[in-house]
Amino acid sequence: MQLLVTGATGFLGGAVLAELAATPTWDAARFMVRAADLASAQVRLRETLARFEVAPELVKRLHPRQIVLGDLADPDTIFERADLSGVTHVINNGALATFGNHPRLWEINVEGSFRFIARLAEVARLSRFVHVGTAMCVGPDAPRPVPEDWPPAPDAHHLVPYTGTKIAIEEKLQRELPHLPLVRARPTIVVGHTRLGTRPSASIYWVFRSVQLLEKFMIALDDRIDVVPVDWTARTLIEIATRPTLKHDFYHLSAGPDMASTFRELDSAMARGRGTEPRAAVYERIPAEGLDALIGTFRERLGPCSPRIMLRALKLYGMFAALNMTFRNDNLRDEGIQPPPPFASYAEVCAASAEASTVAEQMVADFK
Ligand SMILES: NC(=O)c1ccc[n+]([C@@H]2O[C@H](COP(=O)([O-])OP(=O)(O)OC[C@H]3O[C@@H](n4cnc5c(N)ncnc54)[C@H](OP(=O)(O)O)[C@@H]3O)[C@@H](O)[C@H]2O)c1
Repeated sequence: MQLLVTGATGFLGGAVLAELAATPTWDAARFMVRAADLASAQVRLRETLARFEVAPELVKRLHPRQIVLGDLADPDTIFERADLSGVTHVINNGALATFGNHPRLWEINVEGSFRFIARLAEVARLSRFVHVGTAMCVGPDAPRPVPEDWPPAPDAHHLVPYTGTKIAIEEKLQRELPHLPLVRARPTIVVGHTRLGTRPSASIYWVFRSVQLLEKFMIALDDRIDVVPVDWTARTLIEIATRPTLKHDFYHLSAGPDMASTFRELDSAMARGRGTEPRAAVYERIPAEGLDALIGTFRERLGPCSPRIMLRALKLYGMFAALNMTFRNDNLRDEGIQPPPPFASYAEVCAASAEASTVAEQMVADFK
């Protein structure tokens, strides 16, 4: 087996590397990185492993021969610089994952990714290709909870262009590469690490933190929010990629309707982590426009920030949160894969670790 991990420097990809580092699969793994040369790619991967607090003796296991230099915007060059004919398994994390209006989203997430995957399927004898999608790609009109493999309408509306690119590439792979041994893995919202909290990345955690600090947001206290931790997500992706046989070719990596935590539960856990009182008693659900009236309090409540940028970001994430979507994970359960721990069980760890940075510093991860 030779396992290729793309997006190896990212939040999910880094967690996959960290989970692999102490296993025998590590030596059979290769990592795709955007970098000018092997030396700088090696530095980037070492920094990624350090972000996940992988022991230095394990970081030393990284060998330059494991590195594949690759930019999905220029897929042909990847094959000119590396021999990928031995790759048998893939965890395809690489993508522009942003809610911003990045001008290259379609070029990288759809066109470049497709050319890379099509060429890889030609040169390598693939036995499993795990494509990391996003559960949110079904669009806001999907039924609740979202059934697995629910087919979104071709003209499904998307709140941000990113989710549109994620469904487009999946459909293109299914339509145009029918022989690709494709397994689609769609994580829901990935927040924090069960042991490290937000230290590897505070991606999306800053929204929960802001809700508690503002004591007002667009969700109800007892709404369930489908969140999974990055370490569980990484272990599950590895499991799906390396099990000799699978029962399904589609998985939601989600807490699901029964295990998703409510904001009331999160509020208590986060308060414990911060050493403060829960805010549930004073919390108020407000419409999106209600956030406009709070803009004057942002600096006082959220710390140093640009209130205008913060307002736009909170409204955007509030729109997703207000959809109140959970995602069924029957295929995962049927496969016998350990379900994720509820967010409320590790939100305390996230809250304690998040105090080291400001909300504005944390949100940068989500607006590349
Ligand atoms: N985080 C979540 O909540 C979540 C939820 C559902 C699904 N997902 C999916 O999980 C995957 C990873 O997301 P993430 O949260 O880990 O995002 P991330 O931290 O931004 O990582 C993205 C990775 O993709 C790489 N990448 C971006 N553009 C590239 C390009 N042109 N060529 C090669 N590599 C490129 C990045 O490399 P650089 O370091 O060089 O930028 C990075 O390694 C994505 O497919 C995303 O859609 C994430």
